[in-house]
Amino acid sequence: MRIERRRSSVFAALLTGALCAHGNARAADEAGSRPGADWQSWRASTDVTNTASLQRGARNFANYCLGCHSLKYVRWSRMGEDLAIPEALLERHLLPPGDKPLEYIATSMPAADAEAWFGKTPPDLSLMARARGKDYLYQFLETFYIDPTRQTGANNLRLPTTAMPDVLSELEGLKRAVYRNVEKRGEDGRVTTQQEFDHFEQVVPGRLSTEEYDSFVRDTVNFLDYAGEPSQVVRRSLGVWVVLFLLVFTWLAWLMKREYWKDVH
Ligand code: HEC
Repeated sequence: MRIERRRSSVFAALLTGALCAHGNARAADEAGSRPGADWQSWRASTDVTNTASLQRGARNFANYCLGCHSLKYVRWSRMGEDLAIPEALLERHLLPPGDKPLEYIATSMPAADAEAWFGKTPPDLSLMARARGKDYLYQFLETFYIDPTRQTGANNLRLPTTAMPDVLSELEGLKRAVYRNVEKRGEDGRVTTQQEFDHFEQVVPGRLSTEEYDSFVRDTVNFLDYAGEPSQVVRRSLGVWVVLFLLVFTWLAWLMKREYWKDVH
């Protein structure tokens, strides 16, 4: 298995500059430990009209996800047009060698190998944002933690016992899940002690700071949201024009009505 990473820095500089931090109250927590008990309420808060974010997301996808996942309903050329990525840049930095812009975004990993390695074929991600919702994707990519009992060495809060390895650990670092004991009274009145997830503890730092990693994930989720419905950007901007047209038309109709009725009163 080979995961393409070499292009990331060049593409970053060319297209969008350094990763920008979105500023997130949660991320600004004390170094080393991150609160997490509220992880189920974390929101992706992405903006699909932010082209720079989508460009960074496309770069992230090509470098860190395409090794295993495809986007089989999106063509490279269409993506390039929607995200304002010039064809030369697209071919030089994003397209895998041998792929053509008109082709669909396909992973080079054979499904049978993936099945053998992971026990599951990595799903196509074209419709994942629509199927699961972008908050789910955000929580999924933010809640990987070390788990020596798993074959991949990692586990996930959003998708427990996931077959997906913690592929972003190089950027995020490694974190451990810390649990607390909670006493629960069962239906029979007996008190039992259960372990509940409490927070994450950073064990090994990654290449990115917490804020940078957070932006990285948001851009990636934003891109997957775009991929789920590539025409949503056009549809929304078209909507503004339609509403403007209706307003102008209403005004004209009102003027005309006034003109027609002015002699009647
Ligand atoms: C090394 C291979 C590999 C890479 C690289 C990889 N994944 Fe996965 N991914 C998997 C496998 C295997 C599964 C199936 C997991 C399961 O069903 O337990 C999966 C599942 C998923 C799912 C579905 C989760 C669900 O609820 O069913 C999402 C979303 C996902 N990956 C996103 C990503 C993103 C985003 C990236 C890039 C940052 C990425 N993956 C990189 C192997 C990979």
